Amino acid sequence: MMNSFAEDVHAGLSSDNKYLPSKYLYDANGSRIFQEIMNMPEYYLTDAEFEILSMQTKQIHNSLHFSEPFNIIELGAGDGFKTFKLLEYLVHNKVDFNYVPIDISKGAMDLLSKTLKKRLPGLKIKPKVGDYFEILKVNKESQYPSLLLFLGSNIGNYSKEKAISLLELFHRNMKSGDKLLIGFDLKKNPITIHKAYFDSYGITKRFNLNLLIRINRELEADFKIDDYDFYCHYNPITGQLKSYIVSLRAQTVNIKALNSAFHFGYNELIWTELSKKYDLYEIDQLAKETGFELNTNLLDCKHLFSDSLWEKK
Ligand code: TRP
Repeated sequence: MMNSFAEDVHAGLSSDNKYLPSKYLYDANGSRIFQEIMNMPEYYLTDAEFEILSMQTKQIHNSLHFSEPFNIIELGAGDGFKTFKLLEYLVHNKVDFNYVPIDISKGAMDLLSKTLKKRLPGLKIKPKVGDYFEILKVNKESQYPSLLLFLGSNIGNYSKEKAISLLELFHRNMKSGDKLLIGFDLKKNPITIHKAYFDSYGITKRFNLNLLIRINRELEADFKIDDYDFYCHYNPITGQLKSYIVSLRAQTVNIKALNSAFHFGYNELIWTELSKKYDLYEIDQLAKETGFELNTNLLDCKHLFSDSLWEKK
């Protein structure tokens, strides 16, 4: 039996237009390189969303109109860095709520609980490890209103159809009156976007080529890393940014664990990531299409990013 990484690599590299699913970029090394991306001044997303979630905490709280206690459920909480200022504001203002961070990484959740218990001793935290839908089902039974957080332009990595089915799934697992705060990277000067994703330090290139190193290690392949490059392209009309690995020569790669060889043509592309940028009209349309009512868009001062507050009526 092949594991799902093996199956997904096999499917992606056998396709006419080769691709590799972006979730596999984040192994231990990939996650470290992604931290480097987030620390680049050109990668405006991190700072813009941090600004919203630290400067507009009162506004977020006031927009909820929740009775207390309520739940804040964060989907894919990671290191919890983005949410800290919001949690801190609520705790300092003696707001009664439970914080339920959810992540597939147990290590991340253990570390987050430990740090938050130290930094915010008044916080009621109930971390959950696992698939968010299993955990979200429980939300439907909760007697308290809930705010779901889906931050960090996560939604941008889904195609339109997949984004719609994901949001509908959130909707089905929410109670009437529950809210969703969802991050959208906004359409903007294409040069700004290009600089964030096609950095001159080569960090994003390293991040993408690390996936080939991972395949070499985990699936016993023989990718020669120097024979590949990185390319990305932003289309300002559709708002789609697409990232690729480029094969710099015609070459064949053996992947032992798949019992297969794959041919790469001269300059053939392997698509690794979609990162869709939205405008405020599209955000409104998406909310309507998936059954939500848009309460408010919270933007950073440069209007680079929106955390959009939606309500299930
Ligand atoms: N998925 C994130 C984003 O859309 C992370 C990311 C930044 C990324 N640069 C990338 C993923 C390049 C793949 C390729 O912003």
